[in-house]
Amino acid sequence: MKDMHAKKKVYITRTIPSPAVELLQQHFEVTMNTEDRNARRTELRRALKDSHALLCLLTDPVDDALLADAPKLRVVANMAVGYDNIDLEAATRRGIMATNTPGVLTETTADLAWALILGTARRLVEGDRYTRERKFSGWGPMLFLGADVHGKTLGIVGFGRIGRAVARRALGFRMRVLYCDEAKASASIERKLRAQRVSLEKLLRESDVVSLHVPLTDRTRHLIGRDQLRMMKSTAFLINTSRGPVIDENELVRALRQGAIAGAGLDVYEREPALARGLAGLSNVLLLPHIGSASVETRTRMALMAAENIVEALSGRRPSNLLNKVRRP
Ligand code: DGY
Repeated sequence: MKDMHAKKKVYITRTIPSPAVELLQQHFEVTMNTEDRNARRTELRRALKDSHALLCLLTDPVDDALLADAPKLRVVANMAVGYDNIDLEAATRRGIMATNTPGVLTETTADLAWALILGTARRLVEGDRYTRERKFSGWGPMLFLGADVHGKTLGIVGFGRIGRAVARRALGFRMRVLYCDEAKASASIERKLRAQRVSLEKLLRESDVVSLHVPLTDRTRHLIGRDQLRMMKSTAFLINTSRGPVIDENELVRALRQGAIAGAGLDVYEREPALARGLAGLSNVLLLPHIGSASVETRTRMALMAAENIVEALSGRRPSNLLNKVRRP
């Protein structure tokens, strides 16, 4: 018997782990951009003329103009937990479902935040480069002195799933954990994670490491700017695995240059993939290419979750990770 969904079309904007493609191919006609670059706007527009579903990435802006020209589109499945690339209001107005991939990347992203914490505080990349360049001539009492992490104060901005997973890891380092979030965590979570809710200002003034875990919204854009950087200790490190525009990157470069803070570990950038002028020339930053969720296991889970959301949506079911209320899910 022919699958009732056989004729529906799905467009995938870039090569994703094959189990997700295979799942979609069981049900739909699938087209994927297999070039090693993002799908161009013209390619997206052409594909969406007759696609029923779009599987996209955080690098694909899905705005009203694009959706206006997608008459058959029922669902936009983002392969990311963040969805600031999608105009959710426009999708909702046009009756198009939008979904994301929460939960499956929490631990992997928290691991990377910790890699950045340790990497910046203990100067791992500088040390690696120095050793490769054959400059290491033997143990030295003053060689690459960094900062201790254990026993210090960790400030977590945004205490959702990922922020809490970062806090859980801090228990092993016997750190004092401060957090700031619009919502207070339950008393049992605060007790379990030994975390205390404070204002952003107190967190910035008292933390040795500040790690950002907020979504990008109008309220969090440039949450960390000149004034906030000035509140931080001159010995503190700033870590960002959330979204680049949460930090005013030009102000960060200035603060790092002036020694207003000790260092930064960044996985995301304000104008990604571009870097603010001067950032790459600084030795007190560790820069990664947005790989917070980049493990084989997690990217496979994210892709499968996005694909499952499409299968559910095009089967007339409510997708498990629906972000908006549409009239006819
Ligand atoms: C997300 O899911 O939002 C991440 O940035 C992808 O790694």
